[in-house]
Amino acid sequence: MDRILILAGGYSNEREISLITAKSVIHELKKNKKYKLLLIEPDGSFVKKLRKFKPKLVLNLLHGRYGEDGYIQSVLESEKVKYSHSGVLSSSLAIDKELSKKIFIKNNILTPSYIKFSFKNNIDIKNTIKKIDKNLKFPVVLKPINEGSSVGVYICNKKNFIRCLMKLEKFKDILIEKYIPGREIQAAILGKKKLGIIELKPKRKFYDYKAKYSASAKTEHIIPVNLSSRNFNKINSIAMKAHRLLKCRGVSRSDFRFYKNKFYLLELNTQPGMTSLSLVPEIARYKNISFIQLIEEIMRDATINK
Ligand SMILES: Nc1ncnc2c1ncn2[C@@H]1O[C@H](COP(=O)(O)OP(=O)(O)O)[C@@H](O)[C@H]1O
Ligand SMILES: [Mg+2]
Repeated sequence: MDRILILAGGYSNEREISLITAKSVIHELKKNKKYKLLLIEPDGSFVKKLRKFKPKLVLNLLHGRYGEDGYIQSVLESEKVKYSHSGVLSSSLAIDKELSKKIFIKNNILTPSYIKFSFKNNIDIKNTIKKIDKNLKFPVVLKPINEGSSVGVYICNKKNFIRCLMKLEKFKDILIEKYIPGREIQAAILGKKKLGIIELKPKRKFYDYKAKYSASAKTEHIIPVNLSSRNFNKINSIAMKAHRLLKCRGVSRSDFRFYKNKFYLLELNTQPGMTSLSLVPEIARYKNISFIQLIEEIMRDATINK
């Protein structure tokens, strides 16, 4: 029996999502009687429990801060245990929307133009609005640099800009991005393979937290995506390029806007969701890869690639 330690919960805003993911993953893995599973939280006694359980593999199902940002990965590295998904460097780069955008830009991957805004310095809102008018134009999207699940993401116009901005004060540093209209498409990579893409049509104003996780918010998931084969290949190739540039491992999901025949990469997620409403499992299903096969593939990848 393979001993698998499942890491879930944690301290980020996405704690609940991680626990839902763990529940569905455990439900699937239990059907297959070859695993001995232990679910634990990355709390103070985590290392002690890990050493006692001696897993063959840690399946990291954490999201956000401490789970997706290189922190837990470095603890796992120092424990010399194999773990799923990306390593320390990739996780820290991908969670940082500013650093990863800089890498994308350097490598000719289109991403929405942005301004970094810091609440740490003397804030000059008038000047910021001037800069937006000159370089980005309203509406803009405000977002924290290292959150996920659309937490703290606001689309705002000039009129409600200051009100929006103040809502993000606790994040210290944020990005102000040019708003890209058009379609929302996401692409998944698994190991060395392009897994496929999915389009999202939120009924809400945009793909916010509710649109992502509440079935009643009724975001429409579209597969296959209506794209020319040229564009289909293009988005998959950009996702693969980003995955490789950030040196990701296992599965990743890149979020795009598609506007006027151009793909804008918003971000790459190294720990994409695995709940029943999540996108990577749905993309896999379309390729006839069941949920359990997907998880087993992620685990297999983690044991062979280090
Ligand atoms: N520049 C943008 N233009 C248009 N919509 C955006 C932009 N940035 C973010 N969004 C919307 O907000 C959602 C969340 O933003 P994203 O950058 O992917 O952060 P998160 O890590 O919270 O998922 C996106 O899926 C998209 O619907
Ligand atoms: Mg996203």
